[in-house]
Amino acid sequence: MQPNFSIQDKIAIVTGASKGIGYGLAQALAAAGAKVAVMARSKASLDRLVEEISRAGGQAKAYELDVRNVEQIRSVFGQVAEDFGRLDIVVNNAGLGEGMLAEDITEDYWDEMMDVNLKGVFFCCQAAGRLMLEQGYGKIINVSSQVSVVGITEGAAYCASKGGINQLTKVLALEWSSRGVNINAVGPTFIHTPGTAERLDSPEFRDGVLARIPAGRIGTIGDVAGAVIYLASPASDLVTGTLLLVDGGWTAQ
Ligand SMILES: NC(=O)c1ccc[n+]([C@@H]2O[C@H](COP(=O)([O-])OP(=O)(O)OC[C@H]3O[C@@H](n4cnc5c(N)ncnc54)[C@H](OP(=O)(O)O)[C@@H]3O)[C@@H](O)[C@H]2O)c1
Repeated sequence: MQPNFSIQDKIAIVTGASKGIGYGLAQALAAAGAKVAVMARSKASLDRLVEEISRAGGQAKAYELDVRNVEQIRSVFGQVAEDFGRLDIVVNNAGLGEGMLAEDITEDYWDEMMDVNLKGVFFCCQAAGRLMLEQGYGKIINVSSQVSVVGITEGAAYCASKGGINQLTKVLALEWSSRGVNINAVGPTFIHTPGTAERLDSPEFRDGVLARIPAGRIGTIGDVAGAVIYLASPASDLVTGTLLLVDGGWTAQ
């Protein structure tokens, strides 16, 4: 019984694809044969990504999306299904990660973090789920974090939002897995992106991070892509409602 890791010709959405992990995941999915709808607020960056993917022989299309806007999520996801004829894979990657000490957290900061990281992910799951349940097939992958299961200083809002992603992933798996829609989360360790560059470029912070990763290195977008492609492929058909940690052992201790 040879497992099937192919996502050839699958129709995939990646949110938060204008930079960082989402940008690289879109490239990796396209290189693996998927047709990718890339989404974010920065249209110019998405256009550059689409151009890079097509120059590499892949297929992609850009869609402007602010995941805080539920009506826009529904309309853009519907547009993808119309443009491509179906929707097979959704990677909910859009997220904010800036930390803040608990005593300094403002209501606006808290709401923004929850709106993007948790409410945005839920309503993207719902929009995808509605389309996928009708097809009887779909793979949803939510980008969580290693700190969805352990704490980190300055992470009160971030960790709560990512823990929430794990929980909604489990509930949606209970509701949807018998109808052909699998939903899982991935939990990366630190990865150098525009969102983490300032922190990871500080030798002191980076050394602190490395000291906590038994594998001895920070993650790469390729590490996350491996997990995402597995969860998007038929090889993971019996895997649902789980969190796949890509953390070099951070949470094993
Ligand atoms: N880097 C890490 O170490 C790490 C570790 C664990 C988990 N993660 C998670 O991985 C994901 C990506 O992180 P990253 O480091 O690549 O972040 P990043 O470099 O800051 O990129 C964030 C992406 O999210 C998009 N985004 C932000 N707000 C949005 C909104 N309201 N609507 C739509 N898109 C929005 C941004 O696009 P626009 O600004 O163009 O909209 C951008 O494409 C996040 O969910 C993060 O929590 C990251």
